[in-house]
Amino acid sequence: AETTMDNLVALAKRRGFVFQSSEIYGGLNGFFDYGPLGVELKKNIRDCWWNDMVRRRDDVVGLESSIIMHPKVWEASGHVAGFTDPLIDCKVSKQRFRADQLFFAPVVVDDKTVGYVSALESENTTGELQAAAENFKRKKAIQGQLAPVVAKDMTEAKPEEIALIPSPATGEPGSLTPPRAFNMMFETYVGPMRDSSAVAYLRPETAQGMFVDFKNVVDTGRVKLPFGIAQIGKSFRNEITPRNFIFRSREFEQMEMEYFIHEDADWAKCHQEWIDWCRNWLISIGLPESHLSFFSHPKEKLAFYSKGTVDIMFKYPFGVQELWGIAARGNYDLNQHAQASGKSQEYFDEPSKKRFVPHVIEPAVGVDRIFLAVLCAAYTEDEAPDEKGKMEKRIVLKLSPRIAPVKVAVLPLLKNKEQLTQRAKALYAKLKRKYAAFYDDGGAIGRRYRRQDEIGTPWCVTIDFDTIEKPGDTFTLRERDSMKQSRITEAELFALLDEKVY
Ligand code: GAP
Repeated sequence: AETTMDNLVALAKRRGFVFQSSEIYGGLNGFFDYGPLGVELKKNIRDCWWNDMVRRRDDVVGLESSIIMHPKVWEASGHVAGFTDPLIDCKVSKQRFRADQLFFAPVVVDDKTVGYVSALESENTTGELQAAAENFKRKKAIQGQLAPVVAKDMTEAKPEEIALIPSPATGEPGSLTPPRAFNMMFETYVGPMRDSSAVAYLRPETAQGMFVDFKNVVDTGRVKLPFGIAQIGKSFRNEITPRNFIFRSREFEQMEMEYFIHEDADWAKCHQEWIDWCRNWLISIGLPESHLSFFSHPKEKLAFYSKGTVDIMFKYPFGVQELWGIAARGNYDLNQHAQASGKSQEYFDEPSKKRFVPHVIEPAVGVDRIFLAVLCAAYTEDEAPDEKGKMEKRIVLKLSPRIAPVKVAVLPLLKNKEQLTQRAKALYAKLKRKYAAFYDDGGAIGRRYRRQDEIGTPWCVTIDFDTIEKPGDTFTLRERDSMKQSRITEAELFALLDEKVY
């Protein structure tokens, strides 16, 4: 069966991965909480990235900058003036829409425009508009040949069209305002004064921290070009329409790295190397290659300073969407900060004896988007025999052992047999010093396996009568995906975990 968002959201809630924020108060749109298993999964994603990106590389160092920075940072970076989305108001319902997510089409009958229809962006926007156009024609009892609809988004609508396009909230024309620029930064005040001089912003990206601290890192870190500065942390954007569960939210977490290179370096080669690195890393945490693709931003849509941006796309249940952006940003950001602060951002390159402002390649990804991609790819429904051998539906999260929230579950076959529980508890105590382990002695063994399958635990070890009665002190090792069982010693179990969980 296809993974649907409904199944995923239900599982995420049922098993304590993701909750709606402030749920008892009706929730707050665009904000989420990560439950007991969710925090573990999220932490594992972060740790894998940090280990591979920072600790296991000699050319990348870490940083944790503050969330609220000097407001001039966001003026220099261009966010105050330009970090906007086009917003449309429905004057009647007071609802707001992102203009580039609201589509319209003229209803054309016998080459004459007889009205307009609109629809919010979906997997089948054109199909919805076509159905709306047919409906429109039928309702108005218009005779003639209906032309196929041509969908455009509202940023392309002419003023005279806006007056005729129906609002998706009311279905009536004449209630939409023209698109206006809406700044997505959250504002706050620093200190006791609530005037314009105290305005500050919650950061909309972590990247500016790396630019603003560039000189500090160079002067203290013994780093030499090419090198990177990486950061993981929360970012905030007042998205007009947060959507698709944790895919687009208002508070989210980014993992970004700014890789500084020589001004004469072959940036295109370096860009490609980072695109490959990011893709391989996604595969290393278990995302299937078949779900990944690339999107190169067309030259005419790039910011003027950008040399090229490639997005790694993921096939989510709601469509193929951006997961990871890898941008070649030239030296725009450092130059902007040099100009605005009056502090030179030049670097002296010993080998070439040149002084210049380095260029940068930036891989930027959202933890929550990876989290969602991982869940989507891992969610599987198959069949397994129940206690009596009858086949029943089984839900399995086929998570990579690298990121699974629980690596191994320890299950004594029977709860009331002390020899079994003692051996099981001793093994559990030893395991959990190194790995996220789980002890479960409640219920039939098949049920316990099923519970672990649903949260993606790669292995269960059962302490049974063979363990205590036969020589060798072996356990039953049960593998999640194949459900195959074998016997394993404690030393072998640790060796297996050591190899697969890294
Ligand atoms: N410094 C560059 C930058 O922030 P971006 O494309 O705006 O670039 C980078 O964001 C990544 O952050 C995206 O590819 C996505 O994974 C994640 N992201 C951006 N906005 C998000 C949101 N509202 N909710 C969740 N993740 C988001």
